[in-house]
Amino acid sequence: MMGNIDNYIKKLEPILLEYMTGYETGGHDLEHFTRTMKLALYIESIEGGDEKIIAISSYLHDVHRLIQKKENRYVKPSESLSEIKKIIDKANLDLTQDEIDKILYSIEHHEDYNWDGNNVSDLNTLILQDADNLDAIGAIGIARAFKYAGVNNQIMYDENIPFEDFNGYEEKIQDVSTIHFFHNKLIKLGDNMNTKTAKELAKERIEFINKFIDEFLKEWNVNY
Ligand code: ADP
Ligand code: NI
Repeated sequence: MMGNIDNYIKKLEPILLEYMTGYETGGHDLEHFTRTMKLALYIESIEGGDEKIIAISSYLHDVHRLIQKKENRYVKPSESLSEIKKIIDKANLDLTQDEIDKILYSIEHHEDYNWDGNNVSDLNTLILQDADNLDAIGAIGIARAFKYAGVNNQIMYDENIPFEDFNGYEEKIQDVSTIHFFHNKLIKLGDNMNTKTAKELAKERIEFINKFIDEFLKEWNVNY
């Protein structure tokens, strides 16, 4: 990571931590923000994009989730922009208005996936989407999902309810179980990466989840 990026994060970290105090963050801890940023910067190093915009927007992308937890209602990324602006201002990052606008744009649109019928063409935003979704799959993705399940009282699996085959994923609909969630959403993320680099990284992570589901079902059914 470049020195000046390190510097931005050093300034942002204590302010973000202070902001997070008192939140039950579920899967949205500082570690997710940091991994998303590292993944995004790795993708950027190959695909291009603006390093500074990508680093800051990926580090701050999930503030809407913190507000969501606090207010116990679905909160869109667009509803988090004024809070993010406050965090950026407080960190004294010396950004131009144009840079701030680009960061806010990326965060606002980081869940507007083109495979959901949106039309995002900004490379910085496409890279943030990929990084965020890579952190939802693979071994980390499995661990985060079970952590989410623990916090939200979701059962691991129910063998009486078949996996549905449908396209798209509706976040507001309750998943039957964590394994159903893997099947309904996570294993589809691999096909929905924007950049070539993320598609390659996703392949190994999706294979790992598929293997995990197979093993899980074998052990669940005590099928020897
Ligand atoms: P993000 O905002 O980082 O894209 P989400 O808020 O959608 O992620 O979810 C946080 C974590 O919890 C992710 O790892 C995600 O896969 C997991 N998660 C979200 N919904 C569910 C669910 N219904 N069951 C299990 N895990 C979930
Ligand atoms: Ni995220």
